[in-house]
Amino acid sequence: MRGFICLTAHPKGCEQNVINQINYVKSKGQIEGAKKVLVIGASTGFGLASRITAAFGSNAATIGVYFEKPPQEGKTASPGWYNTAAFEDQAHNAGLYAKSINGDAFSNEIKQQTIDLIKADLGQVDLIIYSLASPVRTNPKTGVTHRSVLKPIGQPFSNKTVDFHTGVVSDITIQPCNEDDIENTVAVMGGEDWGMWIDDMKAAGVLAPGATTVAYSYIGPGLTEAVYRKGTIGRAKDHLEATAFAISDKLKDLNGKAYVSVNKALVTQASSAIPVIPLYISLLYKVMKEENIHEGCIEQIQRLFQQRLYNGTNVPLDEKGRIRIDDWEMRDDVQAKVSDLWKQATTESLSELGDLPGYKTDFLNLFGFDVDKVNYQADVNEMVEISGLV
Ligand code: NAI
Repeated sequence: MRGFICLTAHPKGCEQNVINQINYVKSKGQIEGAKKVLVIGASTGFGLASRITAAFGSNAATIGVYFEKPPQEGKTASPGWYNTAAFEDQAHNAGLYAKSINGDAFSNEIKQQTIDLIKADLGQVDLIIYSLASPVRTNPKTGVTHRSVLKPIGQPFSNKTVDFHTGVVSDITIQPCNEDDIENTVAVMGGEDWGMWIDDMKAAGVLAPGATTVAYSYIGPGLTEAVYRKGTIGRAKDHLEATAFAISDKLKDLNGKAYVSVNKALVTQASSAIPVIPLYISLLYKVMKEENIHEGCIEQIQRLFQQRLYNGTNVPLDEKGRIRIDDWEMRDDVQAKVSDLWKQATTESLSELGDLPGYKTDFLNLFGFDVDKVNYQADVNEMVEISGLV
């Protein structure tokens, strides 16, 4: 471990995670969903769950785009590499088309390569999931490299946070951003790149009539809003949400539609790097598990597909036109309990009040560790190939 990242990944553990997610989706029955699906950011977190749900919920052909580190002799790959290798093996065994492209999704080259692959193999796609989480983006039009920051806007923000490795709860103060920080964060995590993907795909004729595209957003409670929704990342999410309307306008002639789905707070590589959020998540997990409404990425996305996107009638939207699958997280009773626990949380009380073990397990699981049914004593080959890698 170094800070928020784990420096290795376990191929068998990642494989088992993928198999568990596939089994979950199968157990929930068929979804009358899209049949040809592109997932941008397909190798971990919500994007991987989206690819698995499309493939194993609706027998969809899937193309995945992601940016992962391949293995070298004696050095493991990044977890998304092993996840994708496992997913594509499972998809191929089930007779499903599954290919992928590893590279910078923000670049013109990767967009073109993806469009060429769609043209050659699928003709067109009817669903595009946009699930990138990145700290940096080079704009292909300007050549400028932007770095995102996770800071409050206007004034310093002080609150509690937890080091989830040690369980130590402490006070932190995060200094506010400057104007450039806002602009850069919007450039990385806002909707500009999503719009570029859809523009390029439309111009190339690879969007099927009625094509749908979905990107993921987050809102969260008052407790975290200074650093999340009202901070720099929140500005980027505002931009992403506004982009959905702009894309929907452009897709009118195809009868297509762009949505933003607001998802629940979950442990992923992206969210563990945001201060304050891990403490919130560990308390939220405790409350939601007690209420029997806890979900991980796969439960969230399976419900998004089955009960929102492809529910057989209209897609339900909130007053701002967004899909809400964070409904259980944001329930008044859940939030009231979390904010009550928040006031009491200290290093001494957190083991009682919060679900730190659940947080840690989920974090280790991201890298294929601490996964049930995996024999960590056995030798394992790090040189795993991705069968559908183009
Ligand atoms: P993640 O870190 O698990 O996944 C990010 C994906 O993007 C990976 O597949 C990675 O390979 C890919 N990627 C990153 N940079 C890339 C690049 N330059 N080119 C190609 N692929 C690249 O992140 P997570 O948490 O699943 O986030 C996905 C979306 O969901 C983000 O928009 C995030 O804000 C949103 N979200 C996350 C929540 C959370 O609690 N984790 C809650 C609600 C929304």
